[in-house]
Amino acid sequence: MELKYSDIRKQLIQKENQWTDDGTAYVTHYLQCRENGSSEYYQNEAHSYLEDLAHEPQFNYEIPFKYDVPFPPPEKPSFKFIDLFAGIGGFRIPFQELNGKCVFSSEWDKYAKKTYDANFGEVPFGDITKIDESKIPNHDILVGGFPCQPFSIAGVSKKNSLGKKHGFLDETQGTLFFDICRILKEKKPKAFLLENVKNLKSHDKGNTFKIIEQTLKKLGYIVFNKVLNAKYYVPQNRERIFIVGFSKEYFNESIVFNFPKPPESEHRIKTILQTSVHDKYTLTDKLWSYLQNYAQKHREKGNGFGFGLVDKNGISRTLSARYYKDGSEILIPQGRDKNPRRLVPEECKKLMGYPSSFKIKDIGVSDTQLYKQFGNSVAVPVVREVANAMLSFMNHGPNAKVETFPVDNIYEEVLNEQGKKVEVSS
Ligand SMILES: C[S@@+](CC[C@H](N)C(=O)[O-])C[C@H]1O[C@@H](n2cnc3c(N)ncnc32)[C@H](O)[C@@H]1O
Repeated sequence: MELKYSDIRKQLIQKENQWTDDGTAYVTHYLQCRENGSSEYYQNEAHSYLEDLAHEPQFNYEIPFKYDVPFPPPEKPSFKFIDLFAGIGGFRIPFQELNGKCVFSSEWDKYAKKTYDANFGEVPFGDITKIDESKIPNHDILVGGFPCQPFSIAGVSKKNSLGKKHGFLDETQGTLFFDICRILKEKKPKAFLLENVKNLKSHDKGNTFKIIEQTLKKLGYIVFNKVLNAKYYVPQNRERIFIVGFSKEYFNESIVFNFPKPPESEHRIKTILQTSVHDKYTLTDKLWSYLQNYAQKHREKGNGFGFGLVDKNGISRTLSARYYKDGSEILIPQGRDKNPRRLVPEECKKLMGYPSSFKIKDIGVSDTQLYKQFGNSVAVPVVREVANAMLSFMNHGPNAKVETFPVDNIYEEVLNEQGKKVEVSS
């Protein structure tokens, strides 16, 4: 009988909570990286964890097994990437589709880790601020939608400058952007793709973005950015800034990266709506009248705030991480005699452009958590377009100094049945 990832998972979990701690992150990263030269980064910790945990002393986790998850790792990948602030893997899907191998992921939310593992067969590591950059495997591309923090990088910079002399990275210290930078500095990937809210550009009168751009340039990257709207791909107005960088070690400074042009297509939310939806998603009379009164008050004051009752032939507002609270930003009308309803998680999945095979049922994650996860995520088709543009630029870009992915595949080591490394000629 063929061994499957789900069998390994069953063997190893003693308590459900254990499946999201760092021990399991080591094990799953180790298993995923067994054949691509990155396993050495995880081997020792994975082995000691497995020895402590495995139910059966004879359990041999080194033998080949099948990934029975919706998005298994590619068999013969052609580049490596890392997935920071991974959420539920909105970046990972398109980069894996392009034959990339994810060699490291980090996400600290327990429930996002569960969704991630159910789909990719890997538990992300936790808090990135606690991870030593030298412990992250080498990679070609770094990707991450870093959280927009409620404080200004420029503000941090001012505080820093009052005291000691500092290097340019210090200007970002205390922010999660700093963690991206220290990894770029240490690992020097060929390229990166970052994503954030559109307002990042205007935050603190543009100072925050200026420091972000300058810092990335000082780290040796040629940097491009563009605000892209997901409405050309899914029926949702969602503007996000995408920042792409290419290393000067591999590319000439004169390169020009063109972001993909959006297709001229119009989307209608009715195409993603389910016909039969449980009544629990319909707003209660109390909540519906609260939302209407609240909107009325704001209208009187001349403000535009309020709920967003969608036109089924149009697109929705931006799905946010707070959607679970009252669903007010995207309400679906249900006729005169019924209060509107909120979207069900499966509809949120489609609104964010996730493939239908993306698994959210029976994985032990509540609706509330799923709303948060999709609201925090990226619109997958937008990342797919940017990733495609980046990869074809990196593979065939006329301005590249060297061929960026010169080998057919990145297999540097192959394990024999006993789990020992064997040499392979390229
Ligand atoms: C904007 S969301 C990115 C979502 C992701 N791009 C996706 O496709 O689902 C930012 C994520 O960073 C995670 N996060 C925030 N601080 C973190 C930290 N210190 N270490 C690891 N993850 C963190 C949050 O839990 C959240 O899921």
